[in-house]
Amino acid sequence: MIIALVQQESLYFRQQSRNIMNVNGNRYRTIWPDPRDDQTICIIDQRRLPHDFVTERLSSVEQTVAAIKDMHVRGAGLIGATAGFGMYLASLQAPDNGFADFMKEAGTRLNNSRPTARNLKWAIDRVSSDMAEADTPAEKRHIAFSTACIIADEDASFCKKLGTHGLKIIKKISAEKNGRSVNILTHCNAGWLAFVDYGSATAPIYAARDAGIDVHVWVDETRPWNQGAKLTAWELQQENIANTLITDNAGGHLMQHGMVDLVIVGTDRTTHTGDVANKIGTYLKALAAHDNNIPFYVALPSSTFDWTLDNGMQIPIEQRSGEEITTISGLDAKGDITTVGLAAEGTRAVNYSFDVTPARLITGLITERGIVKAEREAIHRLFPEASRIK
Ligand code: MRU
Repeated sequence: MIIALVQQESLYFRQQSRNIMNVNGNRYRTIWPDPRDDQTICIIDQRRLPHDFVTERLSSVEQTVAAIKDMHVRGAGLIGATAGFGMYLASLQAPDNGFADFMKEAGTRLNNSRPTARNLKWAIDRVSSDMAEADTPAEKRHIAFSTACIIADEDASFCKKLGTHGLKIIKKISAEKNGRSVNILTHCNAGWLAFVDYGSATAPIYAARDAGIDVHVWVDETRPWNQGAKLTAWELQQENIANTLITDNAGGHLMQHGMVDLVIVGTDRTTHTGDVANKIGTYLKALAAHDNNIPFYVALPSSTFDWTLDNGMQIPIEQRSGEEITTISGLDAKGDITTVGLAAEGTRAVNYSFDVTPARLITGLITERGIVKAEREAIHRLFPEASRIK
């Protein structure tokens, strides 16, 4: 019974999908249920990009936790979608007798896999509360799958809407420049790879390209994990968007010399007062943009809002291993991905993975409902239901 139902949902999922991302001419989402095996979820192992495009199969909550923690998948939206499917995989493992306890424990393990992205808890809570509506474990498993698919579809459709709204900003700048290329700086990867489709910061860029606007992207390399160098530059190349890789410290210099028209970044967690936590270094870009009167926008689906926090300083900031700083990995001359040491043996390194950009430095938030000022009253006007969400 569950197999038939799941296949039905799986078909629904595929019918809904309108994949934008081009990988060597094929169109992909970043996560999808295996259409031939209803107990398996497929992902792209992002640790191997841009050198190898490798897909991976997840069939347990343990594998899902490891995939999130070790960054096979990463980026706020995709972390949330993966957690949703992780809850479904957990429901398949859960014994009928003791189902609730198993699911509670699975939710806690998924939730602890990465601390900063709000989408993680949001997706786990959404699957859990939908499952609570059903009486039997069989029904709950079906609902877990269905809700995970809805979360993934919604993520893709919300990101597409960010593109429509963000396009207006790029269009205006392009007109002011009489059609000359609009130079957009972005940090980390808030692209297709960080969501299910389209991306947040990249969605307006893809929409501008589709509207025939000349755009060029400055891609921060994003030390230490190098999401910009490894993922954003590759993703933009797949879509034929002009882009140039820069060191993280170059942004201020480019801004001082009039070489940046606009900054668009993503966020892992957004307070209802408009502060955002994004990849470490985002705050410095916002300061430089502010000093140079350059618009600084943050693009986000509403799943990144944390309606319980008043101040960005309350956002938990992930600390990852110092080894990500003291070593670096890439393709060696033989074509293998190798890790080499950068710092002297025994060097102590501390690796804060995110920082907080205060609302006062943000020109606007690009959401699926439109562009809004990064301030409490405006955000609550756009999301009036927020006062009921905790
Ligand atoms: O550590 P990562 O790669 O998961 O961090 C990703 C980012 O910081 C993105 O900019 C962020 O998730 C916002 S867009 C999804």
